[in-house]
Amino acid sequence: MDRVGFAVLGAGVIGQVHARNISMLENCRLIAVADQVRERAELVGKQFGAKAYTSIDEVVKDPEVEAVVVATPSYLHAPQTLYALQHGKHVLVEKPMATTLRGARLISKTAEDMGLRLGVVFQERYLEAARRLKELVSNGGLGKVYLIEAELKWWRGEAEYYRSDEVARSWRGYWETEGGGVLMNQAIHTLDLVLWLGGDVEEVSGFISNAAHPSIEVEDVAAAAIRFRSGALGTISATVNMRPTNRQYRKIRVFGTKGSAEIHDLSLRVWTDEGEAQVDGSGIAFGDLHRALLADFAECVKSGREFPVSGGEGIKSIELIKAIYLSSERGVKVSLPLERGDGPL
Ligand SMILES: NC(=O)c1ccc[n+]([C@@H]2O[C@H](COP(=O)([O-])OP(=O)(O)OC[C@H]3O[C@@H](n4cnc5c(N)ncnc54)[C@H](O)[C@@H]3O)[C@@H](O)[C@H]2O)c1
Repeated sequence: MDRVGFAVLGAGVIGQVHARNISMLENCRLIAVADQVRERAELVGKQFGAKAYTSIDEVVKDPEVEAVVVATPSYLHAPQTLYALQHGKHVLVEKPMATTLRGARLISKTAEDMGLRLGVVFQERYLEAARRLKELVSNGGLGKVYLIEAELKWWRGEAEYYRSDEVARSWRGYWETEGGGVLMNQAIHTLDLVLWLGGDVEEVSGFISNAAHPSIEVEDVAAAAIRFRSGALGTISATVNMRPTNRQYRKIRVFGTKGSAEIHDLSLRVWTDEGEAQVDGSGIAFGDLHRALLADFAECVKSGREFPVSGGEGIKSIELIKAIYLSSERGVKVSLPLERGDGPL
């Protein structure tokens, strides 16, 4: 079987998950691992039998590399993706695809213009619970959807997460490098699902705050109300302050005129007049969904089929998050789509 040659750029927490998954998949081949920290690149490269590089330059010059997984700190995603695309490589970029809306739009357009695949790592699009709910909503199984509620209550400690090592200290918790806090980093997966289910947003009103992380600049709690173009309403609340830590959860609730449904962490329950249904996602391990997404991305690179979680899809959650930030900063309701020059975008 033809395998797509991959390089992983950034061999940190998630880069190592991608390297392992690529080396496990039948339609992929891990060619190289690159990290600014040479020892990291060498260690992970050796573990999976791949070349070790220390810069993106070495990656794009390697003719065996057809696709690059960008798994570096968030502020590098757009510039490194652009560079790889300009060198003719397909790119699978970690979320957020960019820390600015301009960056997200630029890389999406560049991929389109060059006829290259650009995918965003929203692995929950491959979650059975989410796929079944999307199908149900699209088929009208819940009737007309009038309300979507999303909640993410997680915990990320200052010492354990934001300041855990030198690399973490260099980028986590700053507007310039992380691009935002709980919305831009943790809740973005949930917002992507909300937008997938609810469609385009017309207007949003939001508040953000930092309640329990004095050493970081970005928000650790956020609340927003949205109106979808369909007329449905939505609410979002997200935090990384949840204590005790064994009470962490994520929920998405969809209410329609014929029934309702709830995603709780990775599982789904549906209630309609016909009865109840469920999908149990409790056996899914971290990395399983990334592997499903990667396998599909490689298939799209080979066949030329459009990857479902494209750059255009990735832009949507960034735009919504920026709108919440603008609304909070200005104390006003914000209409979408956002225009260039609409604040610090
Ligand atoms: N999809 C998911 O489930 C998921 C999970 C975790 C992280 N992420 C995303 O992945 C990205 C990385 O997160 P992480 O937790 O792995 O961070 P990390 O700090 O553990 O890893 C980042 C790595 O990039 C390397 N790096 C930094 N600058 C570089 C450069 N110029 N060239 C090459 N390598 C460079 C660092 O040395 C480090 O090894 C973030 O944007 C984050 O939002 C996604």
